[in-house]
Amino acid sequence: MSRATAVAPANIAFVKYWGTRDRERVLPFNPSISMTLDRCVARCSVELEPGPGEDSVAWLAPDGRPASPPEGLVQGVRWHLDRLRAALGIEGRFAVETGNSFPTGAGLASSAAGFAALALAVATAAGRRPDAEELAALARAGGSGSAARSALGGYVEWPVDAEGAVRCLAPASHWDLRDVVVVVDESPKVIGSREGHRRAPSSPYFGRRLELVEGRLERVREALRERDFSTLAEAVEEDAVDLHLIAMSSRPPIFYWAPETLVVLEGTRTLRADGLDVCATIDAGPNVHLICTPEAEDEVVAAVEGLEGVLYVVRDRVGTGPLVEQQDLSRGDVE
Ligand code: PMV
Repeated sequence: MSRATAVAPANIAFVKYWGTRDRERVLPFNPSISMTLDRCVARCSVELEPGPGEDSVAWLAPDGRPASPPEGLVQGVRWHLDRLRAALGIEGRFAVETGNSFPTGAGLASSAAGFAALALAVATAAGRRPDAEELAALARAGGSGSAARSALGGYVEWPVDAEGAVRCLAPASHWDLRDVVVVVDESPKVIGSREGHRRAPSSPYFGRRLELVEGRLERVREALRERDFSTLAEAVEEDAVDLHLIAMSSRPPIFYWAPETLVVLEGTRTLRADGLDVCATIDAGPNVHLICTPEAEDEVVAAVEGLEGVLYVVRDRVGTGPLVEQQDLSRGDVE
């Protein structure tokens, strides 16, 4: 029997992946850029047993205690394990224990962190040391494309060419940015991102988004290079609104925002007008990520905690990427 434990972070996209050009291989229509997070991580332990049999999946709550898994998790992990076995040529069954350091309903990219941690733990238990490119491919094989970006730390681009390999635009040490996640609704998504990606090209504005995204990517790359917050803020907010514009105009349409989402967006604009370095972005859900500088963070948190409809906030920052916490190989497994 071999064992491994891996930890992988969530990430928040500045320019988002929305629309899958190849669903089987989970490849996007447009490149995306994200910031890897630090505290919001998934920790996954796997044991690889020889011989046939069913994989077992256990879920741990943020305090480390066994809990009942979120809906669809066991099925998603088993599906991903089948793909990892095929990609890595592994025979045998897995016992998986996995969980997140953060609340699962918080609108954080829990699937990205979870799939990246599972991919790294499985590859490690099989005696492999995947580089970022291989880990990105193994992570997104679970069906969550954004998991590819969790293969690296700092600021990460997932291009559309090069078969989906990811690259680091700048390490975490380059720019200490914060992510204040403002939770306004914890209920599970009614329409998941997989379905959102499928519907995206049906929006009459999708082609225009693809045209505009190129310039936006360049502005974000430049803003990261120069640590230019106002250029970053403008591009990040444009792209977040764009994603939701596509979702709302897809056929059939998808509305992810709640009334409180708009309250937080308005509050963010007021804070920026008051001179704080803060901007907002929203994934496929109603919760808002406020990207800000360390100097602005406390004021941002105090202001949004006072807004009506805000349940709680999660504070995070740019992080250094996934890691293997433990590896215990049975003899003959090391390459
Ligand atoms: O990784 P997926 O397939 O769950 O898609 C995630 C898409 C967004 O989070 C909305 C945007 C992104 O680029 O992370």
